Amino acid sequence: MKNARHFCWLIARRTLFVSPKSDNDSASSQGTSVLGLPPQSDEVSLYVHWPYCLRRCSYCNFNKYIPRSVNHSAMTECLQKETETLLKLSQVSRVTSVFFGGGTPSLAQPATIAAVLETVSQHAQLTEGAEVTLEVNPTPAGMSKLKDFIQAGINRLSIGVQSLNNEDLKVLGRDHSSQHALHTISEARRLCPGRVSVDVMFGRPGQSVASWETELEELLAVCDDHVSLYQLTVERSTQLFKQIQRGELTVPGEDITAVMYRTAREVLEKQGFRQYEVSNFAKDGAVCEHNVGYWRAQQYIGVGPGAHGRFVPVSAGSVQREARTQTMAPDMWMSEVQKSGHATRRQIPLSHLALLEEVLVMGLRMTDGITHQHWKMFSPSDDLHGVLGQCGVVQELKRRGLLILDDRGLRCSWEGLALLDGMLPTLLLQLGTYVHSQGHQGNGESTAPCHREGQQRR
Ligand SMILES: C[S@@+](CC[C@H](N)C(=O)[O-])C[C@H]1O[C@@H](n2cnc3c(N)ncnc32)[C@H](O)[C@@H]1O
Ligand code: SF4
Repeated sequence: MKNARHFCWLIARRTLFVSPKSDNDSASSQGTSVLGLPPQSDEVSLYVHWPYCLRRCSYCNFNKYIPRSVNHSAMTECLQKETETLLKLSQVSRVTSVFFGGGTPSLAQPATIAAVLETVSQHAQLTEGAEVTLEVNPTPAGMSKLKDFIQAGINRLSIGVQSLNNEDLKVLGRDHSSQHALHTISEARRLCPGRVSVDVMFGRPGQSVASWETELEELLAVCDDHVSLYQLTVERSTQLFKQIQRGELTVPGEDITAVMYRTAREVLEKQGFRQYEVSNFAKDGAVCEHNVGYWRAQQYIGVGPGAHGRFVPVSAGSVQREARTQTMAPDMWMSEVQKSGHATRRQIPLSHLALLEEVLVMGLRMTDGITHQHWKMFSPSDDLHGVLGQCGVVQELKRRGLLILDDRGLRCSWEGLALLDGMLPTLLLQLGTYVHSQGHQGNGESTAPCHREGQQRR
């Protein structure tokens, strides 16, 4: 099972939509959807992609580039311009969170972060106390700038620790040591108390369940806000893939990674972390609000090379949420932004079915699942019992204690969450059959599974 960062279903969001009916229409005035349209919202969150890294980690196939030099002022101007264009297009009045991801956004200049946030404030209201996250690579260079990033407006730090084992860090091609990681965590906690997250990876070459357990315990001793688990995916285009093919390295099999995942959940829970999503754990309510927005299918704008978004382009006269992807290559992205104000490469209107698929796939990743109230915002006429309750396979999943459908809504049990990927095809099939039988799949495409930066994976 993958962590949320890659996963496929592009992450939908709550959306401002202008109802084709009058303003008095009860569905739109209550913020619920009419068929084929996402629910009304005047808010959006913002993902900003910084595409550059210092070097290529052996396992990573994200949209990242290792440049000889970076034109910081051109990047800053283009990120500002694209933010402005897409905010105007969405016509939202509030931005609820901002996430600077990458690549390695801790290589950006703090002035770039400040400039993008300034642009947000000029074109929308950055809501009071809005979460503003920066992904940080725990190198001495990244650590030395943390204070300046906080001054620029960052109030949450997500640190890519990956491992506390120096040999493993070398195999992964990371440019930091465990000591660098521990220093960065401690500095981050000092600067951002209560808002520090660490990314840690399992299923690594040569890793055993016992060593994983010890390493996680060591990490939890120094980190007490938020943990994101990443299960290593061996991607075809990577150096790691070749090393495994040549027989130089081996990774643990699925049965072992399943035990690693279970062990991690138990260790984290024992240490007081609450699992709130397949791969995410928080203490004292320190959840990542930005990511929760994705899982609740809320509206978001993605700026920067290869970024993805999900929002209604209201000022273009649309009432339908679109899945948007920006041009991947930084140079091309920059020249398109300079020419047209944005570099949207693909825009796909989301059908009613596509939107419900996202609500289902994303919502079931959360331990709270999908409440009836939430589902109704997207599908006022068809409740979860009606859509899924009669399906034989769903009843069987309930009987086996993997899925719960009750007065609260639909969610996975503790066991079920680990098996979610296996359950989704059935649930999606049933949803599709139901929506087609009602004859209201709406206009637009059902999006094929796709990939988004800025999300975790397990
Ligand atoms: C793409 S990185 C961006 C943040 C930062 N550059 C870093 O490496 O920490 C975000 C997260 O994705 C993880 N990631 C990238 N490729 C992965 C893979 N093939 N399998 C599992 N996790 C992966 C990274 O380890 C990191 O924690
Ligand atoms: S894992 Fe992070 S630092 Fe490594 S290449 Fe990918 S984006 Fe860059």
